[in-house]
Amino acid sequence: MKVIVIGASGTVGRAVEAALSPRHEVVAASRRGPVQVDLEDGTSLDALFQTVPDADAVVCCAASGPLVRLETVTDEKFTAGVAAKLLGQARVVDPPPRPRDRPATRALSR
Ligand SMILES: NC(=O)c1ccc[n+]([C@@H]2O[C@H](COP(=O)([O-])OP(=O)(O)OC[C@H]3O[C@@H](n4cnc5c(N)ncnc54)[C@H](OP(=O)(O)O)[C@@H]3O)[C@@H](O)[C@H]2O)c1
Repeated sequence: MKVIVIGASGTVGRAVEAALSPRHEVVAASRRGPVQVDLEDGTSLDALFQTVPDADAVVCCAASGPLVRLETVTDEKFTAGVAAKLLGQARVVDPPPRPRDRPATRALSR
């Protein structure tokens, strides 16, 4: 299968790519490439699925947003996390229609 791994350069993403690559074609994506995408930018996700229209699956293991202790989190930091991780991952599972009419399997990181 052709699998897009968003966040492939991260701690989790590197392990996912290592596990998949012996049996699958992995497309490594993140803000700094090799294929570039920003979960916070819907048009960037549109571009990703136009660049790779024939993906069979997408694994999202991208982190984006500040990691802070719950008791010290500010509204600004909490909102940044929601915008990046929650809404960003929601954009991945609700992309625009793709040219290839084929169901894709997607997994989200927790
Ligand atoms: N590590 C753990 O033990 C652990 C445990 C439980 C859950 N998680 C979750 O797993 C996910 C990954 O964690 P991690 O430790 O692997 O993080 P990480 O090492 O910091 O890696 C983050 C990855 O996400 C990419 N990224 C960041 N912001 C992005 C954005 N806006 N759009 C696209 N790509 C973006 C980064 O590449 P670029 O900088 O090039 O964009 C990088 O590839 C997170 O959601 C985290 O909360 C991690």
